[in-house]
Amino acid sequence: EAGRDGDGAVLLRSPSGATARVSLHGGQVVSWKNDRGDELLFTSSKQAIMKPPKAMRGGIPICFPQFGNCGTLERHGFARNRMWALDEEHPGLSRSDSGSRSLVDLILKPSEEDQKSWPHSFEFRLRISLTKDGDLSLVSRIRNVNGKPFSFSFAYHTYLSVSDISEVRIEGLETLDYLDNLSQRERHTEQGDAITFESEVDRVYVSSPNVIAVLDHEKKRTFVIRKDGLPDTVVWNPWEKKAKTMADFGDEEYKQTLCVDAAAAERPITLRPGEEWTGRLELSAVPSTNCSDH
Ligand code: BG6
Repeated sequence: EAGRDGDGAVLLRSPSGATARVSLHGGQVVSWKNDRGDELLFTSSKQAIMKPPKAMRGGIPICFPQFGNCGTLERHGFARNRMWALDEEHPGLSRSDSGSRSLVDLILKPSEEDQKSWPHSFEFRLRISLTKDGDLSLVSRIRNVNGKPFSFSFAYHTYLSVSDISEVRIEGLETLDYLDNLSQRERHTEQGDAITFESEVDRVYVSSPNVIAVLDHEKKRTFVIRKDGLPDTVVWNPWEKKAKTMADFGDEEYKQTLCVDAAAAERPITLRPGEEWTGRLELSAVPSTNCSDH
């Protein structure tokens, strides 16, 4: 079928020539390339050793119905470890004459097994698309089809590809409060001008702005991250010691990635019966101008 590769992943192409690959396993974006063919998302070279149902290390795993570790649910929820289906109700194929398409609609419903660990009914629709300029857009709509309310947390666990973590900084989170996952979620206030990296970081910046920027000095590239419906931003880099404990992550790969996640992490989202929630992420990668260099 046009638009699917040998592994069953869906291929998207924008009119500008940018591409994305979406795996039905996890509804996970596993590649996003600009019109010059440069890969913009990190995926681990060691991922081959981890087979489904475990999510691939890299790209954009979807964390739902929980972000993090709590109770009996698996870490970051089960959505990233399940097979999603193409959403026939909203075929959204928008194919051009050449057979390429720029968006795909996926759907996840809980299995009986899922409902044993999380006794709720939902329909999770995920639209992944490339804009005409090659920006990557993810829109999640989660509907409560249960007879009672439920609550969840959520993240687009986004592994950006960077040239060297020590040359990267984030702008837009300075002066915010964050919960530090490295010290029992203690609350701190960010002091610095912009966030830079020299050791392990695992933080939830709460009530963060809807637009932030990640500047890669060496690559002269800036990622602009736009979110909507998602109050928090998670920033994670495992650094050297933790990288060595992760079987699906190379010892040195922490230098080439930074996770910056649009998330609802601090406070859960509650949906009453019949209610729907929408959370959006839009990523663009633009060449940096010299004036943003130090
Ligand atoms: C981060 C967590 O968001 O995800 C880390 O805060 C965790 O503690 C990381 O190690 C990766 O999680 P996982 O389950 O994909 O290995």
